[in-house]
Order: sequence, then structure tokens, then C-alpha cells
Amino acid sequence: MKADFLKYQAQTTPHPLAMEVSYAKGSYIYDINCKKYLDFVAGVSACSLGHQHPKVVNAIKNQLDKYLHVMVYGEYAQKPAVELSKLLASHLPAPLDTTYLTNSGTEAIDGAIKLAKRVTGRSEIIAANKAYHGNTIGALSIMGFEERKQAFRPLMPDVRFIEFNHELDINQITTKTAGVVLETIQGGAGFIEPQDNYLKKVKERCDNVGALLILDEIQPGIGRTGKLFGFENYNCVPHVVVTGKGLGGGMPIGAFTASYEHMITLSDEPKLGHITTFGGHPVIAAAALATLKEITESNLIQETLEKEQLIRKHLKHPLITEIRGKGLMLAAMTPSADITNQIVLQGQEAGLILFWLLYEPKAVRITPPLTISNEEILEGCDILMSVLNKIQPTN
Ligand SMILES: Cc1ncc(COP(=O)(O)O)c(C=O)c1O
Repeated sequence: MKADFLKYQAQTTPHPLAMEVSYAKGSYIYDINCKKYLDFVAGVSACSLGHQHPKVVNAIKNQLDKYLHVMVYGEYAQKPAVELSKLLASHLPAPLDTTYLTNSGTEAIDGAIKLAKRVTGRSEIIAANKAYHGNTIGALSIMGFEERKQAFRPLMPDVRFIEFNHELDINQITTKTAGVVLETIQGGAGFIEPQDNYLKKVKERCDNVGALLILDEIQPGIGRTGKLFGFENYNCVPHVVVTGKGLGGGMPIGAFTASYEHMITLSDEPKLGHITTFGGHPVIAAAALATLKEITESNLIQETLEKEQLIRKHLKHPLITEIRGKGLMLAAMTPSADITNQIVLQGQEAGLILFWLLYEPKAVRITPPLTISNEEILEGCDILMSVLNKIQPTN
């Protein structure tokens, strides 16, 4: 399978981990040789309820017996999508009550950018240096990492970048600005939390100049940081919230949510202001509905903070200089990219799945499923500590 994977599936990295997967359940993935791996990554923050959570699987199976795709987004009322949108509204602060469901996070970001342009009649979009919001042309245009996007220029015009957490830069948001797109916690940059009410100050500025604040909750959202939405930790309610990843419980999804008044603009002048064939797909929406119910009706959200403490307590090693992040969105920082590489690769050898962050080569990603047990956390920390003990710094 590995040879075919490398030959027939388009490759996007010269060094894929290339694990040959046969089965996954709970917090573990098994390869074709029946080797068991404890998952400290959760498909990059996507498998919020672990692998094959019974409630998600049942919801999918029940929906399979009713109907699959029946119509493009927005024409027919389909219960899973309606209930998911309604449940999201019930958990979001006013005025965030209307949701557009997409197939991926990047598509939801593009939709949110379009919404900001449509609502304000302006074109300028402001994003942050080292931001990651996805890979479609809109989201790529607001990526704050030139090296990864210069080959794809020309991109969307009228994009400006500010420094995340820099108060003075907030003045660059003006009456020309349609929207400001920020990750609530910067992910690819190294799990950087907003400081000193930064998001609140950006929101106030947006309110003053008539721009929309769009918060990208695709990674921190849906319970990973001790709150259902990461922004609840930072005194700020955005004009638009974008979710994805963990909302799907292992199925592909994205969503952007705004006020009804803002969202209704997508239906007029021009009508069909955002189109998708499969967005809100009944099977995906059923999985997401089951995921959101399970996360909000259990203790999982609160437990993320206890699990964070457990990880912080047990991951103490001279090669870990700092643990960044919140809840189960953590990054263990090492002295060098080389050490991080060794940890990720040797971790996989030792049966522990770890991963990198996009732009911060010294970070080791620790984003396990929210359902991971305390025993599994200790097991993972033990494996990681023994890997760390064997690391040979090369420089
Ligand atoms: C913060 C953030 N925004 C957007 C995206 C894009 O989501 P997707 O890969 O589902 O398009 C990601 C994916 O890693 C992300 O981490």
C-alpha cells in the first residue's frame, strides 16, 4: 500500500509519515501489521471524540438509512443540517445565530471573507502574520507566511497583515476594512494565545470603524480549550465565528456563523451569494450533531483543563523548554527543529502519534481526542519521556 500511496496519491510533502492504517478505535490507531499507536494528535485536532465514537457512528448509520445527498445547499430543509445549525445557535452568544455549513474549514473562511465584503461593501481584509486559515485561494491570500504562498501569486488583492497581539497595529484597521480575520489562538505560529484583552480591543476597533471581526475557531473551537468556543476565554464575541475540524467528530466539515441580519445578505444582490453542492450534507451534519451534543452534554469540555494539568505535570524534561497552549491544544517546545523531528519520528516508532506545527519547527503538537482517558495520557507521557531520554542533540 505504501508504494501505491507514494505513486498514485498526490504527495504534498517529501517526507510523509506514511503509516499504513488498518483500523482506529477510541484513542488508538492500528497499522496493517497490527501495531498499536496512541493518538496524541487526533487527525490534527479533528477527531474530537476519538476514533469511531459509538454515538457518531450510530448517527451516521441512522442517516444512511434515510437519505444521502438530495439537493444543493440551501434549497431543501434537511433535519440534520437544521438541527446542527440550531444547536450551534443555542450555544453561541447573541447575535451569532445563523450558520452556513461547508465541506471544509478553508471553504468556511472563504465564505466568511465574502460575507464581510458583502455586509460592509468594502474590500480590504486584514489578517495576522503567521496566520493559517486554509488553502483555497481566499484563505491562502490571508496566510501570514510568504514562503508557502509566493508560488501561487497573484492572490486575492487588498489584503494587509498586522502582528498578532500588537496593540499599535490595531490602528491599521480603518473605515476601508471589510473584515479582520484572526485565529483565536494562533495555531501554525506555535499555539500563541491572545494577551491583554487583545481580541476584545480588535473587536472594539472593528465596531468603531464598521468592520467585521471574523474569529477562526477551526482548531481551538468545539471544546478543546476548556470552553466550547475558544473566544469565551478572552472576553470577545466576534461578528463571525468559523468552525470546522472537531465539529465533525471525524467527518469533513466547516461552518461560519454570524447574525441573521448579516447572513441574509448572502441571499440577495446577488442571490446565491455563496454556493456549495455538498455543504450541510445530511450524513456529515448528523455526525456533527451527535458530536456537538456529546461534547456539550458531557464533562469533556471541563475535563480538557484537568487533562492539560496532567500533561503539564508529567511532561517535565530538560528538552522541553515550555508547553504552550490551553486545554488539549498544547505544543511542547524543544530547543531545536532537529530535536522536534526526532521526537515526532521516534514517537511513532515507539507507538505514540505526535506531529509538527505548520510554521514553528521547534513545536511538538499535543492535541489528543477530548475523550482520551487519564490513563492514556499517562501512557503517552511515559512514551514521550522515554523518547526524550534517548534523544541525541546533534547541534
Ligand atoms: C486555524 C485553521 N483554520 C483553517 C484551517 C483549514 O481547515 P481545512 O483543512 O478543513 O480546510 C485549519 C486547518 O488546519 C486551521 O488549523
